[in-house]
Amino acid sequence: MTAQIIDGKKLAQSIKDRLKSEIAGLAPKPGLAVVLVGDDPASRTYVNAKEKDSREIGFYSEVRRLPKNTSEENLLELITGLNQNPQIHGLLVQLPLPGHIDESKIILAVDPAKDVDCFHPVNTGALFSGLPRAVLPCTPAGCLELIKTTGVSLSGKKAVVVGRSNIVGKPAALLLLQNNCTVTICHSRTADLAAEIRQADIVIAAAGKAGLITGAMLKKGAVVIDVGTNRVDGKLTGDIDFASAQEIAGFITPVPGGVGPLTRAMLMQNTLNAYKAQLQK
Ligand code: GUN
Repeated sequence: MTAQIIDGKKLAQSIKDRLKSEIAGLAPKPGLAVVLVGDDPASRTYVNAKEKDSREIGFYSEVRRLPKNTSEENLLELITGLNQNPQIHGLLVQLPLPGHIDESKIILAVDPAKDVDCFHPVNTGALFSGLPRAVLPCTPAGCLELIKTTGVSLSGKKAVVVGRSNIVGKPAALLLLQNNCTVTICHSRTADLAAEIRQADIVIAAAGKAGLITGAMLKKGAVVIDVGTNRVDGKLTGDIDFASAQEIAGFITPVPGGVGPLTRAMLMQNTLNAYKAQLQK
């Protein structure tokens, strides 16, 4: 029996359709600003896709593309301006930033009310403590949406997250925990990755290593969510070895067309939520 493939594109489209019809009735429109510094090809692609989604669903959209040598001071000034701009309700700075810019300074500069990435410590802290907030971390929230479409209930299940980044691994583990999973976080120093993964009913792979997880490591019937976006010979490849994993998993996301579209759909949802929270003030 081969795994059922979870169609991220289709799920993201249905979320965006719902958002689009809600936004059609709103005035003023929710506004999203995306800032890109430099010319990293992957970041450029992501930012273009965010701009396209944003326009399609009817947001007011601003994309600021700045040269690689932009100073930290200039970037901070731009962020201050966008923080104060009443047309903008969501603001994100695409990462990674060039080496001369201190990423943590930039994350701290974004108004937490407009932080639709959920990167600011006010928002990550609220997530940690289970306090109410307008936004969820986009990629982890997208993973949860994908898992929920399988109909597999999360409560009491063993979940393994591979990767401990601030953007994916750590917040994904928190969301799974809030959904009553028993959660293990694995990383590059984990002694026996295969032994951990073999226990897992749910696997979220976010290590950034092409084909790291093979079918032989998986528990039969597992839900396997692949966050990896590795370029191998110019081709986008996940952290899961799809061909072998498909033979063992119960459900699996493809790369591309799995998590990526959901990350953007969650960003759109966050922007609408941030807009509503700001208008209520
Ligand atoms: N770089 C990789 N993923 C992300 C993301 O979700 N948001 C931002 N701002 N940068 C990223």
